[in-house]
Amino acid sequence: MRFDILTLFPRMFSSPLEESILGKAAEKGLIQVQTINIRDFSLDKHQVVDDTPYGGGQGMVMKVEPIARAIESVKSKNPSAWTVYLTPQGNPFNQDLARRLSTQPHLILLCGRYEGVDERARKLFIDEEISIGDYVLTGGELAAMVLIDAVSRFIPGVLGSDRSAEEDSFFDSLLEYPQYTRPSDFRGSCVPEVLLSGNHSAISLWRRKEALRRTSLRRPDLLAKANLSEEDRGLLKEIRKNDSKSDCQ
Ligand SMILES: C[S@@+](CC[C@H](N)C(=O)[O-])C[C@H]1O[C@@H](n2cnc3c(N)ncnc32)[C@H](O)[C@@H]1O
Repeated sequence: MRFDILTLFPRMFSSPLEESILGKAAEKGLIQVQTINIRDFSLDKHQVVDDTPYGGGQGMVMKVEPIARAIESVKSKNPSAWTVYLTPQGNPFNQDLARRLSTQPHLILLCGRYEGVDERARKLFIDEEISIGDYVLTGGELAAMVLIDAVSRFIPGVLGSDRSAEEDSFFDSLLEYPQYTRPSDFRGSCVPEVLLSGNHSAISLWRRKEALRRTSLRRPDLLAKANLSEEDRGLLKEIRKNDSKSDCQ
């Protein structure tokens, strides 16, 4: 999968995308990430990319021409590349959206700065607007990195052959069960017996129950959307009954 990032700060991407899982994915050719400096597409002799807003007001707005020319330069090689603008006004980013975007062979990610981009850049060139949360960042670069990271995890091979993003939190609309590793006893805090038992069906049942418990406690909104089996509903009843017992019973 290919990502072309249009930004005024290309250097921000070097370290995060070269390390660990994403770095290895790039080495293996599973993902290709290229940064494109929007400033290189300014026709102005001083390479100006922003201007004051029409109608007055605070801050600067990114000009439409350099953005248009940068997007067109990528699209001239692949007209079907899907173009995303990172903005707090966009669709909320989540695991389903990451999975959907991972089916696109080529994404162009436009990172805004200042007060954002001229509205015509959005209207004429953007296929989809995405927000990574209800807060305002100083620029779209960190949002683009979040998107690339979450999307790349769905590309086969990126997490390694024995690992799938389908096992993580949000798969099935549930949060993941608790994880433990050695030692089995840390200062008197012990790993649940069942995980040491080697009984795989008991471990699976325990994990499912703990995923249900955790989601019910922390994210009841997710549980309401989850596709639960009869067995899950039974487990939930059990969890709620046991958790509601007071210590005095
Ligand atoms: C300071 S923000 C501009 C905010 C804009 N004035 C508004 O109120 O919508 C500058 C840039 O940061 C990026 N950005 C800020 N918050 C974001 C978020 N929650 N998700 C995605 N991108 C964001 C966008 O690319 C935006 O153009």
